[in-house]
Amino acid sequence: MKRIFNYTLLIIILLASCREDDDSVDQIIPSEEPKIFSPTPYSLELPPHFNLINSPIIPADNPLTVEGIALGKKLFFEKLLSKDNSISCASCHAPENAFNDPGMARSLGVGGTMSIRNAMPLFNLAWGSVTSQRFNWHGSVTSLEAQALGPVRDPLEMQETWINVASKLQGTNDYPPLFEKAFGTNIIDSNLVVKAIAQFERTLISGDSKFDRYFLENELGIDLPGNHTLSQAEQRGFDIFMAEGTGDCFHCHGTPFQILWSNNEFVNNGLDADPDSGLAWITKNPLDVGKFKTPSVRNLAFTAPYMHDGRFNTLDEVVEFYNSGVNNNSPNIDGRQKPRNLNAQQKADLIAFLNTLNDSSFVRNPSFRP
Ligand code: HEC
Ligand code: HEC
Repeated sequence: MKRIFNYTLLIIILLASCREDDDSVDQIIPSEEPKIFSPTPYSLELPPHFNLINSPIIPADNPLTVEGIALGKKLFFEKLLSKDNSISCASCHAPENAFNDPGMARSLGVGGTMSIRNAMPLFNLAWGSVTSQRFNWHGSVTSLEAQALGPVRDPLEMQETWINVASKLQGTNDYPPLFEKAFGTNIIDSNLVVKAIAQFERTLISGDSKFDRYFLENELGIDLPGNHTLSQAEQRGFDIFMAEGTGDCFHCHGTPFQILWSNNEFVNNGLDADPDSGLAWITKNPLDVGKFKTPSVRNLAFTAPYMHDGRFNTLDEVVEFYNSGVNNNSPNIDGRQKPRNLNAQQKADLIAFLNTLNDSSFVRNPSFRP
């Protein structure tokens, strides 16, 4: 009896102590397990003819992920990025205007302050020129991440400090877990905010205009549903754009095979005798005075007014400038700039062609809306 009792007691004690250990183990394991951070890699969906040019530039330290892009989109439309929570990036870069501002020569910041330049449309930003990738009219920054730091603290734009932006976002319920999913940490800082925004910006791809469809079907032999031809006026306008003897626009604004419709180079197209410093503001090189980033001629129907200061309200005015208004005394003017002497029909044809590069599916794309 005595022996049996002792034996049973021992088992009970052992079981009890095991249970106790198990309980404590159950409590400890989950909190000690490393958090699994595995965002979903994302590949850009490129229209087929985009393989005619170099690959998009994705920085090694900011790969595209589904979670990063979704967070970047939310931040792009987020008014907490401005001093009085009144404007977001999208206030000056609206989807329906091909991410340009809605028709202002110079966009309005917090409290109605005016930016020094015309806002720029945002599309096909993952590509640079042959030699560099530079952003803003005067090429002040060399990455989208660095670019996005600027507007928040610009005294004429969002007028906020990055410390305040980070703490405002940190104080919300929804942002910390989204940063956790995208970057593996819920501690928000400017570096992660601009990384997410830049990821979203790289997805803004525009390549589905009437001319793109015409080119895909007729030049590259890709069958598309529907009929994709150009009118006679559009075809004549294309020939003028491409001919050295008449319009001669392609040297700077590209060809069907250079599908961005800009070479993204910095040149002076001769707007003024005494031009704005332009690229020289950054390089301090007098040979860069008056040079600005050549804009794409895609999506012009959505992005008026035109030029770095928004001086032209219509394409008629732009074409008349190239036709008869080029200022040959402008310092560092590009050698290819010259009077075109186009007649009224040629000017109208050129504009008809430019309008074939409007991509309405881009400006209506629901994945670019909040
Ligand atoms: C108040 C209006 C305003 C706001 C707000 C604003 N921008 Fe801009 N954006 C501009 C203007 C004006 C330019 C041209 C700046 C220059 O050249 O000096 C520009 C230029 C850019 C460019 C350069 C495009 C190119 O082709 O080189 C990018 C990218 C951009 N903005 C992204 C953003 C992002 C991201 C935000 C939000 C963090 C933002 N912007 C907020 C007005 C604004
Ligand atoms: C030597 C290079 C060069 C040539 C050639 C050239 N452009 Fe430009 N184009 C530019 C530059 C640079 C700008 C921006 C200038 C600025 O704002 O200071 C520009 C701006 C424009 C804009 C305004 C776009 C916007 O978003 O504001 C249009 C439209 C345009 N060019 C059309 C044409 C047409 C049409 C031709 C041919 C008749 C042509 N360009 C020839 C370099 C050139």
